[in-house]
This record gives sequence, C-alpha cells and structure tokens, in this order.
Amino acid sequence: MYIKDYEDFKIVILEMTGINLSAYKERQMKRRVESLIKKNNIEDFNSYVKALNVDKNIYNEFINYLTINVSEFYRNPAQWEVLEEEVIPMVLKNTSGKLKIWSSACSTGEEPYSLTMMLTKFFPLADIRIIATDIDEGAISKAQIGLYNPKGMEGLPKTFLAKFFTQQGNYYKINDEIKNCVTFSKLNLLSDQFPKDCDLILCRNVLIYFTEEAKVGIYENFHKALKTDGILFVGSTEQIIMPNRYNLKPVRTFFYQNNVSTTI
Ligand SMILES: C[S@@+](CC[C@H](N)C(=O)[O-])C[C@H]1O[C@@H](n2cnc3c(N)ncnc32)[C@H](O)[C@@H]1O
Repeated sequence: MYIKDYEDFKIVILEMTGINLSAYKERQMKRRVESLIKKNNIEDFNSYVKALNVDKNIYNEFINYLTINVSEFYRNPAQWEVLEEEVIPMVLKNTSGKLKIWSSACSTGEEPYSLTMMLTKFFPLADIRIIATDIDEGAISKAQIGLYNPKGMEGLPKTFLAKFFTQQGNYYKINDEIKNCVTFSKLNLLSDQFPKDCDLILCRNVLIYFTEEAKVGIYENFHKALKTDGILFVGSTEQIIMPNRYNLKPVRTFFYQNNVSTTI
C-alpha cells in the first residue's frame, strides 16, 4: 500500500503497532508525527513507514515519542495528600480484605511505586499489590529496572527517599521490597480488557491526549472495572465532564466514586 497521507498512515500504524491514532487528538498527534519524520530527514509518510518496518531504532523512537512517558514521583503532591488523608481511609471503610489497585498508564513506574510507598503507612508490604499497566513496553522495562533521576523525585517525601531507594551514582534505585509489590504488564486502554473489581484506579495524564469519543469509551470501562464505591483518581487537567453519565460522582477534586452508596 502506498501511504499518501496521514489517513493512510493511521491505518498502517494500527496494523503495525495496535495503536489507534484516530483516538488521539488529531492536530496534536499529526504535528508530533510530522516533526518526528522531519527530524529523521525522511521525506514523506510512505518512506517513513518503510523505515519503521526495517529499522528497529526508528520504530522504537516512534513508539517512545508517540506515548509521551513523562512522569514524576508524587506528581501533584497536594493530590497525593488528599489521596492519603481522605481517599484511602474512605476506600478502607468500604472494603474488607486486600485492596485491588490499578495504575492504568503507569509509564516508567513513578506512579505505582509512589502508591506502594504511600500504602506502607496503612499496610505491611506483604499485603500491598498494585497492578501497573501501560501501552509502551519500553516504559514498562524502565519501570522494572527502577533507576531514577532525582529531577523527577522532588515531590517524593524525603523519608521515602531514605527508606526505599539506594543511591547509584547520580541516580536512585528503587528497592526490591517496593518493586516486588507491583506487577507490570502491557495494556492498551483503547482496546484491551480492563481488570475487574478494583477499589482504586489511577488514570493520570494520559486522557488529555485522547479525543472526546475515545474518552467516553474509557470512562465507561473504568465504571465497569471499579467495585461499587471504588475510586477513580485522574490527572490535574482531566476533570470529567458530566461524570454521572458513567455512574461516577466527584467526591474530591480529581477523585470520582463509582455507583455511590455512601459518601465521605
Ligand atoms: C504522561 S505519561 C503519564 C504517566 C503517569 N500516569 C503520570 O501521571 O505521571 C502517559 C502514559 O500513557 C501511556 N499511554 C498512551 N496511550 C496509551 C494507551 N492507549 N493505553 C495505555 N497507555 C497509554 C504512555 O505510554 C505514557 O506512559
């Protein structure tokens, strides 16, 4: 197939990678792809697809660029304070037994590891289990290595840095006791099956890239993935419009409760 424009490109990329570019905001994504093509001194979509097929480096660069893996420990610390002080106690009131928690676009691991460290204030490590997923296998591999630049650790409570990391040169390595609480796997929010019966789901700083239509499908699936009274924690620019459409009720800014039967 000759790839004559972005429309053709989207079709080929879906076949090649499983990533549906039509679900991402068009102007933003097209501009990103075009600038990447230009950066590689490639002439057009057709030649770029040829390069993606034969050159693993170009392919990996494309996936990496597309997925925007920027993350931080305790990203937006004020929201983590609300999570710890108000939301986790509420979740605990509504659940018996171990919590099922899913970090749904976990990138390079900062989010699920932050959660694990925070949960040590509530549970012994042996009782903490976090499901962490992302579409990008490269990001997941980095998360599994767990080596971090201090630049992305500024929001992390200092006690956690001392307790759960080992310094390696200019970097910090997350300790195995925290790492072992997190199970990483690949999951595409647009097409894969979601976990079930979650007490808490984090979906932060990814839905901003999606079209409104794609978001609707994802929120519906989050509703199905949460237990009654379970909580969805979203990013700071991702408040849900008319959340009652999905049986979700705002209980704090950036926190939504499923099928509410009790409130805090
Ligand atoms: C900006 S990072 C957010 C990381 C973390 N949640 C945070 O707030 O710091 C966005 C992540 O979403 C992932 N992503 C993009 N499209 C996705 C999709 N369709 N399904 C699952 N993850 C996706 C990217 O690979 C990237 O790691």
